[in-house]
Amino acid sequence: MSRLASFLALASCLSFVSSTTVAEIQGPAWQSPLAGQTVNNVTGVVTAKSSSGFYIAGEKSDDVRVSSGLLVYSTSSSVLSKVAVGDAISLSGRVSEFRSSSQPNYLFLTELTLPSNIMILSSNNTVTPVVLGKDRFPPTREFSALDVGAEGFLSAPNNSSRIEAANATLQPDKYGMDFWESLEGQLVTIPKATSLAFPNSYGEFWVHGDWPVTGKNKRGGLTITFGPDGIPDGNPEAILVGAPLDGTKNPMVVLGTGLGDITGVVTFLFGFYYVLPLTAPVVTSIPSSDIPATTLTSDLNDVCTITFGDYNVENLMPTSSHLPTIASHIVNYLRTPDILFIQEIQDNSGATSDGTVSANVTLATLVVSIAQLSNVVYNFTEIDPVDGQDGGQPGGNIRTAYLYRPEKLKLVPGSPVGGSLDNTEVKGFLGRPKLSHNPGRVDPNNTAWDASRKPLAAAWQNKFGVQFFTVNVHLSSKGGSSSVQGDARPPVNSPIEARTNQVSTVATFVKSLLFKDPLAKIIVSGDFNEYIQTRSVYKPLTSILTDIDEAAKVPEVERYSYVYDQNSQQLDHALISWGLRLRKVEFEHVHVNTWSPSLAARVSDHDPSVGRIRIC
Ligand SMILES: *[C@@H]1O[C@H](CO)[C@@H](O)[C@H](O)[C@H]1NC(C)=O
Ligand SMILES: *[C@@H]1O[C@H](CO)[C@@H](O)[C@H](O)[C@H]1NC(C)=O
Ligand SMILES: *[C@@H]1O[C@H](CO)[C@@H](O)[C@H](O)[C@H]1NC(C)=O
Ligand SMILES: *[C@@H]1O[C@H](CO)[C@@H](O)[C@H](O)[C@H]1NC(C)=O
Ligand SMILES: *[C@@H]1O[C@H](CO)[C@@H](O)[C@H](O)[C@H]1NC(C)=O
Ligand SMILES: *[C@@H]1O[C@H](CO)[C@@H](O)[C@H](O)[C@H]1NC(C)=O
Ligand SMILES: *[C@@H]1O[C@H](CO)[C@@H](O)[C@H](O)[C@H]1NC(C)=O
Ligand SMILES: *[C@@H]1O[C@H](CO)[C@@H](O)[C@H](O)[C@H]1NC(C)=O
Repeated sequence: MSRLASFLALASCLSFVSSTTVAEIQGPAWQSPLAGQTVNNVTGVVTAKSSSGFYIAGEKSDDVRVSSGLLVYSTSSSVLSKVAVGDAISLSGRVSEFRSSSQPNYLFLTELTLPSNIMILSSNNTVTPVVLGKDRFPPTREFSALDVGAEGFLSAPNNSSRIEAANATLQPDKYGMDFWESLEGQLVTIPKATSLAFPNSYGEFWVHGDWPVTGKNKRGGLTITFGPDGIPDGNPEAILVGAPLDGTKNPMVVLGTGLGDITGVVTFLFGFYYVLPLTAPVVTSIPSSDIPATTLTSDLNDVCTITFGDYNVENLMPTSSHLPTIASHIVNYLRTPDILFIQEIQDNSGATSDGTVSANVTLATLVVSIAQLSNVVYNFTEIDPVDGQDGGQPGGNIRTAYLYRPEKLKLVPGSPVGGSLDNTEVKGFLGRPKLSHNPGRVDPNNTAWDASRKPLAAAWQNKFGVQFFTVNVHLSSKGGSSSVQGDARPPVNSPIEARTNQVSTVATFVKSLLFKDPLAKIIVSGDFNEYIQTRSVYKPLTSILTDIDEAAKVPEVERYSYVYDQNSQQLDHALISWGLRLRKVEFEHVHVNTWSPSLAARVSDHDPSVGRIRIC
């Protein structure tokens, strides 16, 4: 050892020279071991700049839990103008764990604040990004070790622990959030990205890159599925692409848009992990604009075979600009099924709180619009809610309704139409159940249905008097749920208690039908606002009915009717009784909205579906 080198070694031991590495700041856990401390002589190469700071890459760490990237936070133009991308610098600052005090469910971001003593050591250095799918692989099944329970991230109780309070050491080989956290502040490349959804209102969008994924559907999205261990898989391998750091604009994307490589820095913002690209990603392929119509067509001469459609038409009122498109979807894509389960029919005055509850004009307008395109003249039936009691857009009084083709089906006669607060009971003889009201609402006074749509039950018959029963449901929406990548684990699934109770009241009704006739033909269909993977919610129904996707053997990854965050997911379901499952069952999801060529062209946030069953 030369004299100079030994002097420096000695000096550093004696802390004449104090230096801290980026890796030491990041550490192997969620929060920095140095949080709150002032650190000096931190060295790194500037990888990216934004209006609120710059990112540096320190020496690479051998520990995969430890990020070698760091955000240096500053909005001062004199600080920002000092450094350029490619500069090797040293600086001092204060290690801080930041999250907005108004967003307690966000994760902390490790930052170096109050940067000072910035020294440029050299310029024009290059930093090699971590290539995801080559150097590192995102876990594909679970978000967090804290998502305990048989249903993983969908388990109840939700919010039973918090990531930052636990502050465990990261397990980036196992859990998606740990993986992204272990790259916080680092420069990465997402090779050959695929968009997983429409962009949000800020032009940000979810992608996966050229790495192993689970749940891949034919369109290019990632569907929520069950893992091989039976634990729901919410696709933690996906990442949000934020606004480009150079001020360019992200391209328009849809589900399945192909993009080139995206290089940027990993960060946590607005409740999610992001890659902030250095510049706007480039579109390399656009999915086909051809959306297949259902193959399950109605045959008026085949009285034993019934086609049914299900469609949440998103706040439909008589003057809705999307009404003609909904009608054309029903005609051209659903091919005018014999019966339609519709959700979100608003009253005749739409979202105006004027005491109107009747929706006969809304429904008649839809029927006329369908007739103009097809010569099919549907009849409709529904029950008005009590004004303002069923949730949804204020004043809209959304409800479920049926459209049906009177030449094929009619409501079983002999029971009055139920009123808003009448409970539909199962009467009749053994082997021949009869509804007290037809149609009628199911248990409308049950508190489970407070501020929610009451289910609409009906009994139908074909021209030979063969009967079947339907329940059209629209459960409480997921509003108020927390980010899948938030602090609360498992994430808050709101209001899961309400949906569980709602399913339970529907199951009680279905049981009373099956008690009278174990082979009763029953379809429960609609917008459940819940994934089938949240088994605890569905249990009362799945113990007596079968998910039609299962019965019809729809491939698991193709079961989706909605795209939210990174996931193709199924909120809309049909469940059928044994009396129907005995016979041939077919089912198809029709992706008129999730495959829309643009967000603006979409007319509902839900896709419809079509089933074909035999009642005799
Ligand atoms: C940083 O390191 C240099 C030598 O590399 C030393 O001269 C200086 O005192 C150190 N600065 C601080 C603030 O410790
Ligand atoms: C988080 O964990 C790290 C590593 O174990 C530890 O050094 C740090 O002090 C912890 N921070 C908090 C706030 O518990
Ligand atoms: C950095 O590279 C650019 C061109 O790539 C050159 O113009 C500039 O002089 C270089 N700066 C330094 C400090 O080497
Ligand atoms: C879910 O979390 C919310 C917020 O902490 C809580 O109010 C609710 O009771 C939880 N529900 C369940 C079923 O755990
Ligand atoms: C989770 O529960 C904690 C403690 O009860 C609460 O402070 C927090 O707001 C909850 N988080 C969410 C997202 O509801
Ligand atoms: C709607 O119902 C009202 C009241 O029963 C009736 O006067 C009106 O003609 C109906 N409109 C349509 C389009 O059916
Ligand atoms: C159509 O619906 C109306 C009102 O519910 C009803 O009076 C009529 O009988 C229905 N027509 C057929 C053919 O079912
Ligand atoms: C529901 O409650 C209302 C009063 O709020 C009552 O008039 C009605 O009879 C109740 N319905 C049933 C089925 O109990």
